[in-house]
Amino acid sequence: MKGVLLSGGTGSRLRPITHTGPKQLVPVANKPVLEYAIEDFKTAGITEIGVILGHKGREEIQELLGDGSDYDVDITYIVQGNPLGLAHAAGCAKDFVGDDDFVMYLGDNILKEGITDLVESFESGDYEAGIALQEVDNPQQFGIADLDDDGNVTQLIEKPDDPPTNFALIGMYVFSPKVFDAIETLEPSWRGELEITDAIQTLLEDGNAIDSHVVEGWWKDTGKPEDILHANHLVLEDLEKSVEGTIEEGAEVSGRIELPESSTIEAGAVIRGPVSIAENTTIESDTYVGPYTSIGADCVVANTHIENSVVIGESDITTSGKIVDSLIGRGAQIGSADELLPEGRRLVVGENSNLKL
Ligand code: G1P
Repeated sequence: MKGVLLSGGTGSRLRPITHTGPKQLVPVANKPVLEYAIEDFKTAGITEIGVILGHKGREEIQELLGDGSDYDVDITYIVQGNPLGLAHAAGCAKDFVGDDDFVMYLGDNILKEGITDLVESFESGDYEAGIALQEVDNPQQFGIADLDDDGNVTQLIEKPDDPPTNFALIGMYVFSPKVFDAIETLEPSWRGELEITDAIQTLLEDGNAIDSHVVEGWWKDTGKPEDILHANHLVLEDLEKSVEGTIEEGAEVSGRIELPESSTIEAGAVIRGPVSIAENTTIESDTYVGPYTSIGADCVVANTHIENSVVIGESDITTSGKIVDSLIGRGAQIGSADELLPEGRRLVVGENSNLKL
């Protein structure tokens, strides 16, 4: 079994964060989203991984993952070229996959329980594809599976107007190489893409057995800022306490926190976990860092109240205002205007930023 990890896409719904990098490298609990997929592959015993690169962020992705040796996996890069849809991206992996079965994983998705059960379920029968499903409230926005009373897949439809069920195809699939024949017969959908959902429907219509696996734990497609915050919340729910850095006397820390050796919580700061703090970051006095917050590397946070937020890194944050439910991009500087005249906010805001003042 091989792995195919998709890391293309424009990340338009995550602008301005994605103006400078691919969406798959946005950190959740101080770890790029893409690394969760690599770990899931490894846990499932899949170490030969083809990473499909789109137009955006090719170099950054290769810089992060390298040849895979840091993760004990073996990575091959495959350039997709034109972004013609998920089925097109999968098709680019044909030579890499050869005669093996493979798991295709959308690199902007995170799954609590990983892919081991999905792989085992596929391998337990004579299937040409295996799909992971989860019930959603907004089935019009996903690929949807219809199932009979015994749970067998009877139809797959991409973003239906009138969904027969609310079982969404989540971003992990298992395929035999037969899927490449199905991909070759596809026509672009209404949105101009070769849909992986249509490729699986073609396999089904050709009489092949499709396995379905309903995923119990949470799953998150991290396409939008609120999804990043939600994923950060979900991952921090399971954060294991790890304190190697300095907590000065007079700092008040409760709950589970992650604090690497090079980071400091100064006297007078209050931290309520779960909170993840990355390297070379200082939380100064009179600062409150509340639950479900991740502060990235090389930050200074002072005189600030911040909670349920993600600070990506290299930021100075010193403001008397409360920061909640926020996603703060790399290098952002947030200060206080309290003592300046004329009174008012002072903004240098990037394109597609989204502020609620
Ligand atoms: C894609 C697939 C869709 C699937 C979803 C999962 O949608 O086309 O079938 O349900 O990923 O995240 P897209 O993100 O391209 O809208």
